[in-house]
Amino acid sequence: MDVERLLSWYRANKRAMPWRDNPDPYAVWVSEIMLQQTRIETVYGYFARFMARFPTFRALAAAPMQDVLKAWEGLGYYTRARNLKRAAESIRSLPGTLEGWRALPGVGPYTAAAIASVCLGVAAPVVDGNVSRVLARLRRFAGDTRSAPARERLAAWLQPFIDCAEQPGEFNQAMMELGETVCLPRSPACSRCPFAGTCLAHAAGEEEKFPERKAKKTIPERHSLAFRHSDGEGRFLFAQRPPDGLLGGLWELPNQEAKRKTTTKAARPVFHSRTGLVPSAVRYAGTVTHVFSHFKLQFHVYDVEASGEPKNGCVFALPETLPLATATRKALRL
Ligand code: ADE
Repeated sequence: MDVERLLSWYRANKRAMPWRDNPDPYAVWVSEIMLQQTRIETVYGYFARFMARFPTFRALAAAPMQDVLKAWEGLGYYTRARNLKRAAESIRSLPGTLEGWRALPGVGPYTAAAIASVCLGVAAPVVDGNVSRVLARLRRFAGDTRSAPARERLAAWLQPFIDCAEQPGEFNQAMMELGETVCLPRSPACSRCPFAGTCLAHAAGEEEKFPERKAKKTIPERHSLAFRHSDGEGRFLFAQRPPDGLLGGLWELPNQEAKRKTTTKAARPVFHSRTGLVPSAVRYAGTVTHVFSHFKLQFHVYDVEASGEPKNGCVFALPETLPLATATRKALRL
C-alpha cells in the first residue's frame, strides 16, 4: 500500500468538515459518535446544532437528558446519545490516551482509534465498514470482514502502514474518505482511486465481489396500534418509553403491540386500557411504516375522541416540546 499516494490524494480531495481543521477533541468525539451510523450529509446539520446547544462536555454533562435526546431527534440509534451524555457525566476531563477513550461508554475500538489518532496523534488504525471494504478489495481478502476478530486482523494488517504516516489522524481519515467517496459499495470510482494500480480486486475486475457479503436476512414485521388524541389546543397525548433499550427516553403516541391492524371497534378497549381515557369516537387514520435495524414496524394509527383523566404515564404536550420517535412524527403528519 502506497501511503504517500493515499495522503496526497487525501490532501487534494478531502471534504471540508467543521471538526477537521481544528480538531477539538470534544467536537471530534461528538462527530465520530454521530457518524457511527449516519451519513455525513445528515450529520452536518445535527452536529452544528448540537455544538451550539452543548459547546463543551461539561455543558453536555449538565444538560437534562431530554434536551440531549431532543437534539438527537431523528438521527436514530438513540443509545449513542444516552451513552455520550453519560460518558460526559462520568469524566472530569477528556481522556488523553487511546485506552482512556476506549473506556468510555459508546466508544468502541474504531471510534477510539479515530479520536486518538486525530486528536492525540496515536498510530491506531481505524477499521470501520468503509475501511474494511477498501482493504477487502485492495488485497482480495475473502470471507468475513464484519466480526470483531476480522476487524482486528485488518487493523493488524494496517498497523505497519499507519506507523509510516507522520500524522496517523490524516492516514485514518484518508482511508475513511476513500471508502466514502471513491471505493463505494456499488460502482466504485476506480479511475479516481490512488490505489487503482495496485488493487487486486480492480485488476481482476471483481471490485463488487469484495467484501464478500452474506445474503441479507429479511427482517420481521411488527404491528402496533397507536392512538392520536388531541386536547383541541394542539396538544397530543404522549407516553414516554423506558429509559433504556430501543428509543429509550423518547416520547411516542400511546400504543400497544398487536398481531395486525384491527377494527376500530377492537381498538377501543386497547385505547382505554393503555391511556385510562374513555373513548367516544375512534377512526382509523392510516398506517405508517418505520424500519429499524432489526424489524419493520407497522404503526396503525387511530384518531380518538375521549374524556377522562390520562393514566399510565400519558400526558398532553405540544409535539415540538418533546423528543419524539420518528414513527410518531410520521403518524402526526398523516
Ligand atoms: N467517518 C467517520 N469519521 C470520519 C472522519 N473523521 N473522516 C472521514 N470519514 C469519517
